[in-house]
Amino acid sequence: MEREAVLVGIDVGTSKVCALIGEVARDGSLTIVGKGVVPASGLKKAVVVNIDQTVRSITGAVDHSERLSGYQIDRAFVGVGGQNVESQNSRGAVAVSGHQREVTREDINRALEVARAVSIPSNREVLHVLPRGFIVDGQEGVKDPLGMSAIRLEIETHIVTAAATAVRNLAKCVQASNVKIDELVAASLASAEAVLSETERDLGVAVADIGAGTIDLALFLDGSPFKTAVLPVGGNNVTNDVAIGLKTSLQVAEELKVQHGSCDLSTVDPDEMISVSMLGEPGGRTVSRLDVCRIIEARMRETFEMLRAEIHAAGEGLLPAGVVLTGGAAQLGGIAALGREVLDMPVRVAGPSGVGGLTDNIMNPAYSTAIGLLYWGAKGLEAGDNQRFESAPAGGIPSKVRDALRSLFP
Ligand SMILES: Nc1ncnc2c1ncn2[C@@H]1O[C@H](COP(=O)(O)OP(=O)(O)OP(=O)(O)O)[C@@H](O)[C@H]1O
Ligand SMILES: [Mg+2]
Repeated sequence: MEREAVLVGIDVGTSKVCALIGEVARDGSLTIVGKGVVPASGLKKAVVVNIDQTVRSITGAVDHSERLSGYQIDRAFVGVGGQNVESQNSRGAVAVSGHQREVTREDINRALEVARAVSIPSNREVLHVLPRGFIVDGQEGVKDPLGMSAIRLEIETHIVTAAATAVRNLAKCVQASNVKIDELVAASLASAEAVLSETERDLGVAVADIGAGTIDLALFLDGSPFKTAVLPVGGNNVTNDVAIGLKTSLQVAEELKVQHGSCDLSTVDPDEMISVSMLGEPGGRTVSRLDVCRIIEARMRETFEMLRAEIHAAGEGLLPAGVVLTGGAAQLGGIAALGREVLDMPVRVAGPSGVGGLTDNIMNPAYSTAIGLLYWGAKGLEAGDNQRFESAPAGGIPSKVRDALRSLFP
């Protein structure tokens, strides 16, 4: 395998920080050569609330991955989550310049600038300006207008923004860990890279990354995202409900949920009892598994109803390929069945796949964002074209990517 580049992804989640080092081969295949996962502290619903603790978590994850790989991390693609992530779609039109009247990269970039010039409040930071497609002299659905004869070029873009202060605090923590930022990537878009097929994206699909504190959501149509959002609920809410309902500690509730939890009540034997240690009751007691699962099902039903409202707000019938669930909490028993019932669309659970190397314990849905960040970076290497204009203003290899190519020193 000829190595083309070494990339780093850092997912700073509510429950864990994960740093992955990946080698990208010329054929685009990805090999994990370093990984570090440490429990996160200092974040609330994916937003930094304590700088020192977050820096310590990031440093811990980075150190682990460096030691495993022998590389020293200089820069990384970093995932951004949290309720403050939002999106809007914007169009930009320009007259095609030059006496040939052929669309050049320059025209595309000017159109992109116009689209990007929509008023975005000063308290928000633009994470992505992603081209969705072009309209050339009124002709919609053009994917690549470069070289086409035309008078008027219009671009449709998807703009993802986040609260500027939240982004600045996250960036501060990464930089304080001695890591420069290649690019800040919305967590949902990173997860999408890891779990969605091209066919699904073309048809219309949503990815919902259900983490500990949040759901990172992205809706795709015609191959590109058209809505990106975050819902402020996740697996922690389920654990909290179980702890309160059974008057037990969060730790015990978490164990119960992971080992015995299901949100498909039709599969739970009403006579099954499980033993639990209760607060203030030495020796514990037994509870009905169905009672536990009822608590879990109620919270997850409500969560899917929120998801349904968010999806419907974007438009009816846009997602024939349904919803792909990922994130650690997507491993909950019976989740796809409940999802199908409430959302009334196809639902599947997926984790990352198709990578080699040090994959032990990370080929599960909790690592979709981290692995997706590497895919995102790898896509940028082969681009310099349609995918990522924002980082390729003058054509050729984007400087960011050029930097990434020499981002690491073995
Ligand atoms: N086997 C399992 N069954 C059910 N839930 C699980 C299982 N394993 C992990 N979880 C839940 O997954 C959640 C953690 O998921 P994940 O690691 O994706 O979160 P995160 O990325 O740290 O958080 P966020 O994305 O919200 O910032 C926890 O709530 C945990 O209880
Ligand atoms: Mg996450």
